[in-house]
This record gives sequence, C-alpha cells and structure tokens, in this order.
Amino acid sequence: MSDDVPYDDWAPIYDVWAGTAPITKRNLPFYVERLVAAEGPAVELGVGNGRIAIQAAHAGASVIGVDSSSVMLSLCRHRARDAGVGGKLTLLKADFRSFQLEEPAALVVIPFHSIGHMLTMDDKRDCLAHVYEQLRPGGRLVFDHFVFNADRARHVDGLTRLRGEYVDPDSSRDSLLWVTVRFDFRDQRMHILAISEEVDPLGQTGARRVRRMDFSWLDPDQARTLLEETGYEIESLWGCFDETPFKDDSREQIFTARKPA
Ligand SMILES: C[S@@+](CC[C@H](N)C(=O)[O-])C[C@H]1O[C@@H](n2cnc3c(N)ncnc32)[C@H](O)[C@@H]1O
Repeated sequence: MSDDVPYDDWAPIYDVWAGTAPITKRNLPFYVERLVAAEGPAVELGVGNGRIAIQAAHAGASVIGVDSSSVMLSLCRHRARDAGVGGKLTLLKADFRSFQLEEPAALVVIPFHSIGHMLTMDDKRDCLAHVYEQLRPGGRLVFDHFVFNADRARHVDGLTRLRGEYVDPDSSRDSLLWVTVRFDFRDQRMHILAISEEVDPLGQTGARRVRRMDFSWLDPDQARTLLEETGYEIESLWGCFDETPFKDDSREQIFTARKPA
C-alpha cells in the first residue's frame, strides 16, 4: 500500500464502505442537485468511484472529477462508461492542493467528509486556498464533515465492529468487513483499521487483509476560520443535508462558501 494514496488499496471495499455509511444516502441527492444546477464548470474533489458524479451526469451535469488514486479513477471511468455517461465526466489524477483546471470553476464540491484527508490544519488551509484560486469570481465551494463528539469517540475508541457482509469483487467470495478506529484527540486524527476476511459456506475463514488509513476532523469554528483566512464569504452552514440550519447538537456541518465576485 502506498502511504500517499491509500485508496488504491481501499478500492475493492469502497462500495461496502460507502454503502454501510448511512450519510451516503443523504449526501448523494444533495450533491447531485448542486452539480446539476452549476452554471459553469463543476468539480468534485475526491470523485472516487463516481458514486455521486455518475448520478449527476445521468441527471445532465458535466463533472470534472479530481482524485489522487489511479485505481479509484479507473473504477470511476469504467462505471461511467457502463452507465453510458463516460462523455459527461472529465477525470484528473491530481491532489486537492494542486489540481489545475483549464477554465475557472463555477462550483467545487468536496463530499463525504473528504476534507478530512487533509490531515493537518495547514493541509486543509492549503486545500481551501488552492480551491479558491481555481474558482471564478462568484464561484462556490461546498463541503461537509461530521461534527466530532468526544464522548461518542471515547465510547467507541479501539472497539472492533462488523461494518458489513459483502461479496469481494476480486475473489467473488463472501466476506466480512471489520473496522476499528483509534482516536488521537490532541491532533484531531483517527487511525482506521479495516480488516476484510473471506468466509466459506461452512463458516471457515480464509484470506484476511488489513487496510489502514489516517483521517482527521475539524470543528465548525475551525472550518469557519480557515474559510475566512483564505478569502471566502460564508453563505450558509447547515447541520443536515435537508438544509436545516446548524445547531449545537447537529451531527454534520455543511458549508457553502463563495469567492467574492
Ligand atoms: C471518501 S472518498 C469519497 C468519494 C466520493 N466523493 C464519494 O462521495 O463517494 C475520498 C476520495 O478522495 C480521494 N483523495 C483522498 N485524498 C486525496 C488528495 N489529497 N487528493 C486527491 N484525492 C484524494 C481518495 O482517493 C478517494 O477516492
């Protein structure tokens, strides 16, 4: 596994990973609607296997998808072609902090907590500043993250739980996916261990594979500060994908920020 591109290794379990995260049902229509409504170039950072971009393309959007994982991009390309929307997607292999567009974007989205892949505050600031450069005046950035809850995190810290039962796309074998998360409260990081294990019809376990990933979180106040420091005007902060305003007990933070015209 490459440390720089952990998703090359995670691609075979991405469907079960996303499919067992309840938030993906709510974030999908939210981002599809925005990508379709964009009046100009629309970019998804961390396009992954095209879970969102392909639906948006079906609904009429043209999407530029940026991702650093060539394996995820290849999955996206094949899925888009199979879905008959290959021509609506432009895929760029690049980092969130250095992608280059031919034309400034009207909209950049960073769905499904993916800003958390920027592990330090400096990484996150560099990412937001770079997106700002790639937006046209009046262009918008939309991103989301979960709201970190220290009590909940202490409760699950280090526990292993069954995330899903699935058929491995490479071996076609029944498999289990176990996940353990360890929290680094000081540095706002999570170390995620995902263990996949094949199971035969008699219940005997076979090949096991361990995948690791570091991830990070940010508080709404930190996100607000980073956006203001990098020049954005914050248009809205929602606490849910149904556009409910953010409240103290919200579990999600969804920012829409604008580059001044
Ligand atoms: C959680 S997945 C999200 C995929 C898709 N947006 C979705 O909602 O299903 C995050 C994606 O971001 C990509 N990624 C992570 N860090 C990145 C970086 N620094 N630059 C570009 N892509 C990155 C990963 O390769 C992965 O495909």
